[in-house]
Amino acid sequence: MPASKPVVFVTRRLPDAVEERLRRDYQPRLNPDDRVYGPDEIIEGSAGAEAILTCATDPWPAELIQRLPDGVRALATFSAGFEHIDLAAATARGITVTNTPDVLTEATADITMLCLLGAARRAFEGEALLRTGRWTGWTPTQLLGLELNGAVLGIVGMGRIGQAVARRARAFGMRIHYYSRHRLPPDLEQGAYFHHTLGSLLPEARFLSLHCPAGPETERMINAETLALLPHGAVLINTARGALLDDEAVLAALDSGQLFAAGFDVYAGEPHLHPGYKSRRNGFFLPHLGSATIETRTAMGFRCLDNLDALFAGRPAPDALN
Ligand code: DGY
Repeated sequence: MPASKPVVFVTRRLPDAVEERLRRDYQPRLNPDDRVYGPDEIIEGSAGAEAILTCATDPWPAELIQRLPDGVRALATFSAGFEHIDLAAATARGITVTNTPDVLTEATADITMLCLLGAARRAFEGEALLRTGRWTGWTPTQLLGLELNGAVLGIVGMGRIGQAVARRARAFGMRIHYYSRHRLPPDLEQGAYFHHTLGSLLPEARFLSLHCPAGPETERMINAETLALLPHGAVLINTARGALLDDEAVLAALDSGQLFAAGFDVYAGEPHLHPGYKSRRNGFFLPHLGSATIETRTAMGFRCLDNLDALFAGRPAPDALN
């Protein structure tokens, strides 16, 4: 670490332990009010900084990266996803970009199971019934949902999070099918059935859970055409990125019964999700809580700082993306 502590511009408020470590090892420029900064404030805040600690809520298009002061050497994003950063533009400016893989796998897999169960067992409707005082007592046919045991869970994207979801789903008695760019070796596949195409997976998947990154190849991969390939009355889970869905097509499928229910944690255009979701009762919708545990958010912050520590000590950042 150099004699004078590097200035780090931190765009959002972070967990206490992370801000403590920042104060100990750096000169942090913190955001105690947690305001979302616009592009001009980002440029102002970066003046004199050698690194920026950012989040998935800050878009980093090429125009913004080009305006950064010359002293900025690193852009550490407090997220596993990095589709909000123009990596080519950062590389052209000689700025190292890092993310936080691995540490949010388990928490995100947990929230996926919450979405799966919440959607399958009509948790929103049940809660609403109780909280609005309309529950008149147990009946044999009240709010019947779908059983996980014995059902096929189709996983799209069998990376770290997809595998962690598969582990949990097996404990619920689900059978795992998956579609991924690469087939896993048998020790990781654990008996899951591999599909070479999405089109081959969909007809098998009573439950479908998305775990692939957002990007040009996956944008709106779930649309009217692909939804029609699912078994009638399927359950769709998305804890990856909202851009994977064609929202209009999903809402139409929720209305027609092609989808029995949906369980989502992420939305296109967050926090301004498609208004249609707010009125659908057969949805279990959370506000992007996938990694929101004290342990995981602290680990994500520490991972950002491990990367900055390495860079400022002249070593390669372990999670460098460029
Ligand atoms: C991630 O890390 O990508 C989470 O979705 C939080 O942004």
